[in-house]
Amino acid sequence: MKELIIAPSILSADFADMSAALSAIQQSRAQWLHLDVMDGHFVPNLTFGPKMIKDLRGRSDLFFDTHLMVGNPEGLLDEYITAGSDAITFHLETVVHAHRLVERIKATGVKVGISIVPSTPVAALLELLPMLDLVLVMTVNPGYGGQGLIASCLNKVIDLAARRQAANLDFLISVDGGMNGQTAGPAIQAGADVVVMGSAFFSAIDKPALVQTVKALRT
Ligand code: DX5
Ligand code: ZN
Repeated sequence: MKELIIAPSILSADFADMSAALSAIQQSRAQWLHLDVMDGHFVPNLTFGPKMIKDLRGRSDLFFDTHLMVGNPEGLLDEYITAGSDAITFHLETVVHAHRLVERIKATGVKVGISIVPSTPVAALLELLPMLDLVLVMTVNPGYGGQGLIASCLNKVIDLAARRQAANLDFLISVDGGMNGQTAGPAIQAGADVVVMGSAFFSAIDKPALVQTVKALRT
């Protein structure tokens, strides 16, 4: 069994002290850094642009997992790739020609993911699954950290894991929203490979212990 990946979301960090946040993530032994880009249109909140990613890139070797919650990923994509993202995940709900966008991202050499919000079914993704490195299942409605898990979204994780096995595919399944030391258990049991954690990670006093505990949930 592959090691579970923990992806702390910088969204819940102190934006006035990103260096400290980066150090805390690196010391925790989490493997990925989750970067929530929000545009104030697709989601009500607004976060940061590519310069933040570029500046963090200069200080970190973590895997940069960029989650684009923007209405126009086609237009913004190149800047986020150039900034140093290792993976770009866009929302299926924001594009008509998702197939074309996946091909465009793959051609740049970065990993490609697609995310679906709680109201979007897995069925909408089926044609694209063989092309993807990552499927990010939103387990809250995107826009804010600190919301409670919508447990029914884990059925989509179960469905994706079954389809992956049946078709012999190898995309990772990521869960994002409301994850903590308790809720990660059912998500991992459902088939999640990547656990994004924002508020739970940054509010944890002992971050390495939290990471170790959640990693140990996949045996
Ligand atoms: C929400 C973002 C999440 C967010 C998760 O729209 O996509 O990545 O940071 O935060 P928590 O873990 O606090 O739910
Ligand atoms: Zn996210």
